[in-house]
Amino acid sequence: MISFQEQEKIFHLQGNTYSYILCVKDGMLMHMYWGKKLPSADIGCLFALHGEGASFDSAFSRAPMEVFTQEKGYYGQRAINLVNPAGDDLLSLRYKGHRIFAGKKALTGLPSSYIEDETEAETLEIDLRDAFTGVVVTLSYTVFRDFDVLARSMVILNKGDAPLTLTDAQTAVHLPRAEYEIIHLKGAWARERHMQRIPMTQGNFSIKSRRGASGHENNPFIALVSPSTTEFSGDVFAMTHVYSGSFSASVEVGIDSAPTMMMGLCSDVFSWKLEPGCSFQAPEALLTYAPDGLNGLSHRMHPFIRKRICRGVWRDRPRPVLINNWEATYFDFTADKLFDIAKRGADIGCELFVMDDGWFGKRNTDNCSLGDWVVNEEKLPGGLKALADRITSLGIMMGLWVEPEMFSPDSDLYRAHPDWCLHVEGRERTQARQQLILDLSRKEVQDYIIGSISAVLRSASISYVKWDMNRNMMEGFSAALPAERKMETQHRYMLGLYRVLSEITSAFPEVLFESCSGGGGRFDCGILCYMPQTWTSDDTDASERVRIQYGTSLIYPASSMGAHVSAVPNHQTGRTTPFHTRCNVAMGGNFGFELDLNKLSPEDLACAKQAVDTVKKLRAVMQQGEYSRLIDPAKQNGRSAWQYTHQNQVVVCIYQDYNVPNMSIWYVKLTGLEESAVYEDREHGIRTTGAALMNIGLPCGLAHQDHESWVYCFEKL
Ligand code: GLA
Repeated sequence: MISFQEQEKIFHLQGNTYSYILCVKDGMLMHMYWGKKLPSADIGCLFALHGEGASFDSAFSRAPMEVFTQEKGYYGQRAINLVNPAGDDLLSLRYKGHRIFAGKKALTGLPSSYIEDETEAETLEIDLRDAFTGVVVTLSYTVFRDFDVLARSMVILNKGDAPLTLTDAQTAVHLPRAEYEIIHLKGAWARERHMQRIPMTQGNFSIKSRRGASGHENNPFIALVSPSTTEFSGDVFAMTHVYSGSFSASVEVGIDSAPTMMMGLCSDVFSWKLEPGCSFQAPEALLTYAPDGLNGLSHRMHPFIRKRICRGVWRDRPRPVLINNWEATYFDFTADKLFDIAKRGADIGCELFVMDDGWFGKRNTDNCSLGDWVVNEEKLPGGLKALADRITSLGIMMGLWVEPEMFSPDSDLYRAHPDWCLHVEGRERTQARQQLILDLSRKEVQDYIIGSISAVLRSASISYVKWDMNRNMMEGFSAALPAERKMETQHRYMLGLYRVLSEITSAFPEVLFESCSGGGGRFDCGILCYMPQTWTSDDTDASERVRIQYGTSLIYPASSMGAHVSAVPNHQTGRTTPFHTRCNVAMGGNFGFELDLNKLSPEDLACAKQAVDTVKKLRAVMQQGEYSRLIDPAKQNGRSAWQYTHQNQVVVCIYQDYNVPNMSIWYVKLTGLEESAVYEDREHGIRTTGAALMNIGLPCGLAHQDHESWVYCFEKL
């Protein structure tokens, strides 16, 4: 998988469908190729064509350095920026040595992709050194046997004798010179991860989060695609960050139209003092090349995230159908009210009841008590144990909402430790949702969270936790850090959070953790390393959710997306959609309810029960199957379709936003079927070949209302 040609000093990293090639030339590590798999790395003779400079520009302004730094007239974006005590930031990294070994190392302090045994991956580590500062950069590349994803990371070690300041640490890559379009996932609260596609032009395009979380606005993912790329064909080059904090991702096209792409920490809110002898571990980035379109990208990323990012006992278990009381009651509940909701859920086959916000301290509205993780016995007499015992007696599991990274100014915790919040002395502590952020860069704060949340989880039979985080950083600085280290706060916060999550999830391995941040404000591969599912969005309106889930699916598998049926008119949009469509859309992820089933009409309740039965029958297909997008809701007038294929089963979900009078039938063409095999959907009386389903398609369009939807289930005979 990884070979080194001693004579030409060429490294060839080979996945099943991609090649990534580097070489050492005049002591410099140069990028030669990333793209379709090559049989050998015998391309040194072609490489001479690269790197020629002319007139105003030095050879370095075009040199495809593997790590972009400021030296000898390289004017492009920089992967590493290190300011040395002389005040300049020049860095001339030269090859010192390398190692190729079986397996993959874990990253110190940060989440990363992993392996289960050493034979399934190979890693290349390359050391580069700057003679002037003594800095050694170790680049790490892991090629997986079973997954077409290249994992990259780097460690920056100060082997000199003076402190340095690191202001940029990015994973960077050159792309073949060509025309491209940029794809990224943009959004906002309740409108997360809509696919955006724009032309790439000369200049620099970047997306960022400075919020202290990956955020609703931009997801830590970026791709360059050939302009002709569709869901089914065309070149895709993508990068995804295994990190949950502020980030930046950028594409730059310089003088000779060869683009560079980078993903890493956001330098606007980051710098790091690197003392002699100390090292800095940069987060991992995942590089994915797909020659077969956007579905090709998803087909590589979904199994990788399911199996080599997500971990723990819930990784492969069918995810429980849940019922959550948030939109049913908000803060206004009693133990009996919750029990009634859970009971009706259990009656129709739900497997987990989740008690959302409002069970602790004196929290009857969102202005108090975060941080005081003690049950409110006025609301829940007998405490968590009494309620959990009642719920579990229904034969279902009990789950709980927490928001451990926050505290309310009106809380015992804040009164005892006002300095525990992120803040700057003398400045206002700006509140959002009437809460402040705990300073997770401090060990004592981390320990408080680990202790208090563990005590809650030990106090009753709790099988599930919804770990929420409902505001972003404003005065995002630690009072415990000296002035010259204040800019380290955001990254230190993330290291602290990862320590907390690692301790708690390993102490409670049987608990299913779902992350949340005002819906999908922290949906990334970093958080998925600890919690295998994320609440996709606070927006549960079926029409909006089609777009949100469609965009999210570009990178993230269905098993990582929480998707619930809620009441109408929808609480976020005021829109009314048919009950069966709300169910069909929620089947696109980990299915659940976010309403009081006791308030449903008998028809809707029957539909809810049928949906639960269908989910249980089909969840292996939907949670583990290969997912393909068929029709993009943004392109075809609100029509949309996706397909899951797993072993002999094929499930197709189709949505049509608005009914159009006097419409002709339209067809949804399936994908990836066996041409000559016969597929049957008994319920709809369809029995035909894979070739017919892929070339003619399923006839649709006879809707009698807006927001119509259909689900087809085929068996390969
Ligand atoms: C956030 C979550 C919601 C709910 C509330 C509770 O907004 O996204 O699902 O849990 O917090 O306060």
